[in-house]
Amino acid sequence: MSKIVDLRSDTVTRPVPGMRRAIADAEVGDDVFGDDPTVNALEDRIAKLFGKEAALFVPSGTMGNQVALASITEPGDEVILERQCHIFNYEVAAAPALSGLQFNPVDGDAGVITVEQILPHIRHRDIHAPVTKVVALENTHNRAGGHIFPLEEMKRIRELTIERGLRVHLDGARLANAVVATGIPFDQYAACADTVSLCFSKGLGAPVGSAVASDAETVQKARRKRKQFGGGMRQAGILAAAALYALDHHVERLADDHENAQRLGARIESIDGLELAFSVDTNIVIFRVGEKFGSVDLLLAQLKKDGVLAVPFGPTLVRMVTHLDVNADDIDHVADMLESLGSAG
Ligand SMILES: Cc1ncc(COP(=O)(O)O)c(C=O)c1O
Repeated sequence: MSKIVDLRSDTVTRPVPGMRRAIADAEVGDDVFGDDPTVNALEDRIAKLFGKEAALFVPSGTMGNQVALASITEPGDEVILERQCHIFNYEVAAAPALSGLQFNPVDGDAGVITVEQILPHIRHRDIHAPVTKVVALENTHNRAGGHIFPLEEMKRIRELTIERGLRVHLDGARLANAVVATGIPFDQYAACADTVSLCFSKGLGAPVGSAVASDAETVQKARRKRKQFGGGMRQAGILAAAALYALDHHVERLADDHENAQRLGARIESIDGLELAFSVDTNIVIFRVGEKFGSVDLLLAQLKKDGVLAVPFGPTLVRMVTHLDVNADDIDHVADMLESLGSAG
């Protein structure tokens, strides 16, 4: 059988040989006791990279978001966020269920919300009203096709939140993609947030793990929350070693994923019956499937027969994500297939 080209997500990557060696060689200890030197090294490195006092290694992006939100709120508080964001749509309502938080979603534009859109959602101090406590942002934005949240708007939101006594959480699952695409360093984005996360298990190619960075007191609270949520890990240095390897070897190469996504996006644009739903900023391509192709399900089934995997992203939308396990030839192969399915239709 020919090679599988798996474009369902950048989470499908498998650790490369060098990363596996780093895992095998990792020094470890019991991290719940604070004894794992590799986890400690990773947390120090992330804190420095983000320009924050401290950082915490967590098992997943979801847990990163959840321990961060739980650490900067009280039950009954409200979180303003963009309606299409991951925290609102894909975290099993963890913030309401586990931390007693209420969401106040704002309709954004390609994942971006502005100061003007946020303002009317901030509650007045009133005995009847929940307390608005946090504005949560996502950069890059998954459902908006990897769109980059502009730093200038993040700075404006930061100023507003300081003025109003609110906190900012940045879901930076794919912040490394934004950093590589814009050349703006991690700490400039992180300076716009009180708490910021990063996933190692997406484009960075590690098997497991994310981190959250903040001030020392908030990270201490997040460490207790991580334990409460069942995320205290023991010899987690084998995972932290993969994350450190990813930071050393897999950040700059995200530019290749972006180039491949551009390549795919350009071909899709040229195919009658397919239309990009968002401009391609980073490694995510979301496109609309016209009637000519039958349906999303039919198109995905036909692609799958030839070893190409993608995910439905709505009744007429498909998402394809580039990552380190696919190259330009794979992309050309996928584009050729789409083209021939279009001309057969
Ligand atoms: C923007 C964003 N945040 C958070 C997550 C959650 O990450 P995890 O699957 O590791 O919980 C994802 C996962 O795709 C994501 O796209």
